[in-house]
Amino acid sequence: MLSKTIQEAINTQIKHEFYSSYLYLSMAAYFEANSWPGLAVWMRVQSGEEMAHARKFFEYIVDRGGRVVLEAIDAPPSEFKSVHDVFQQVLVHEQEVTALINDINALAIKENDYATQAMLQWFINEQVEEEKNASLIVDQLKRIGESSNSLFMLDHRLGKRGTA
Ligand SMILES: [Fe+2]
Ligand SMILES: [Fe+2]
Repeated sequence: MLSKTIQEAINTQIKHEFYSSYLYLSMAAYFEANSWPGLAVWMRVQSGEEMAHARKFFEYIVDRGGRVVLEAIDAPPSEFKSVHDVFQQVLVHEQEVTALINDINALAIKENDYATQAMLQWFINEQVEEEKNASLIVDQLKRIGESSNSLFMLDHRLGKRGTA
């Protein structure tokens, strides 16, 4: 059985994962509106992965005999300054999510909740990937600059996500 504090922390994390999904879908909408179809594909895939994360936490609460209580999801921003701005925000957001997951893990350690620690290991590894992917794109964007041919090539390449 889950403790009340861990259950609440995971219920709140479900909200954060849905917010991530919402944020990335909003970024996909921004890219569509600004004629970056490849970047929009990348964001749609990212949005779908965040939804899967929310469901993973959902199932974990159910498996432990807990009670899922869904919280209100904030509205994400709908306007962004540039392609660079979007990916910079992705990186910052993923770093924040990493900190949230680390906080739950610290709580699980404090409570000697080994099952929650084992479940969170997947998310801890996933966050390493998430931060790595976002920071690679941010670095490449810094190098190529806005409106260059390279940005069109990046749009093309990121648009292949989920198909290769
Ligand atoms: Fe996530
Ligand atoms: Fe993420």
